Amino acid sequence: MSQRTLRKAAEVAEKSRIILSAPAVINGKEIFDLLREDLAALEEEFGRDTVSGVRAITEIGEYLRAGGGKRIRPALLLLSAKLFDYQGRGAVKLGAVVEIIHTATLVHDDIIDEAKTRRGRPAANTQWGNSKCVLAGDWLYMQAFKVAVQERNFRILDTLIELTQQMVEGELLQMEKLGKLITLDEHFDLIYRKTACLFSVCMRLGAILGGASVEQEAALGQYGHDLGMAFQIVDDVLDLTASEDVLGKPVASDLREGKVTMAVIHALQGCEADERAAIEKILQERAFNGVTHGQILGILQRYGSIEAAHDRAAAYAESAREAICSFPDSEVKRALLWAPEFVVAREK
Ligand code: IPE
Ligand code: IPE
Ligand code: MG
Ligand code: MG
Repeated sequence: MSQRTLRKAAEVAEKSRIILSAPAVINGKEIFDLLREDLAALEEEFGRDTVSGVRAITEIGEYLRAGGGKRIRPALLLLSAKLFDYQGRGAVKLGAVVEIIHTATLVHDDIIDEAKTRRGRPAANTQWGNSKCVLAGDWLYMQAFKVAVQERNFRILDTLIELTQQMVEGELLQMEKLGKLITLDEHFDLIYRKTACLFSVCMRLGAILGGASVEQEAALGQYGHDLGMAFQIVDDVLDLTASEDVLGKPVASDLREGKVTMAVIHALQGCEADERAAIEKILQERAFNGVTHGQILGILQRYGSIEAAHDRAAAYAESAREAICSFPDSEVKRALLWAPEFVVAREK
């Protein structure tokens, strides 16, 4: 046996020893433990960042922060930075930044969608009215940038500006397409802008903080993109299949808001004329008049459309996992490998 082969064999043995010695899976609780301190610091940072001299802004900010939320975006940013063993304060700061941007988009989104409920509570617009909430949302965006500027890093600012514009463009494009039957490609472009772009940015910001190479940042960005696409497809499925109690926001609201999502687009591709007419009626009237939610679910089930959307989400989830396969094994990597499973299996 040559020296080279021996060396190779030793390397393989060493690799498999590492794999065998580390538990292959990690669960949600372990990930929470991994991030516990950082997530607590993030809540404090968020709380400090949303204090204004104008009481209404502080009140709205606090109401939104206290409403909870999964904090999935900052968790991704923290994990991404941890992958590089980043030790600075920047990850918590930028974690708050992405969560504040997310919060601002939700405040504006609930005004646009005339939503009454968010996170199981009255949406902020129902408490303070649209005008104050528009301004609070604007203030939150600017506050997020003010915190981000503290990093003194133009790439971070560029990334966040590009992101915010993508998200606003996504909301606007979606508005223009309300009530219309859009193609799957158009739909995917929308969900990229609305959701996947932010997930991708969270991963890339963690990578930038951690001093990642161009390739590593791209791989993590791809992971975030694919995870975000899966997340939104599942979100859209849950809008059709979940209960309001579990979801914390009204169900079947997409159709009522004139939005066609993946399962509906799938069904429209093969359904009968009367079924198409039933779907179009809801989209045009923005209400379930004479067509029930149950009937729509029946149509989606008949054509396997819920399953098709779930399969697509699962494929994106798998693709997210593949995007990070070249990183060495670690607890953080295992957490990132677990997240796609969580996103696809989640119930709220
Ligand atoms: C809601 O996002 C907006 C979408 C992209 C569907 P989340 O489901 O992450 O909301 P919270 O922050 O956990 O409430
Ligand atoms: C949420 O979009 C807002 C953004 C992601 C920008 P939706 O209107 O589709 O989501 P929900 O159902 O209100 O959370
Ligand atoms: Mg909405
Ligand atoms: Mg919306």
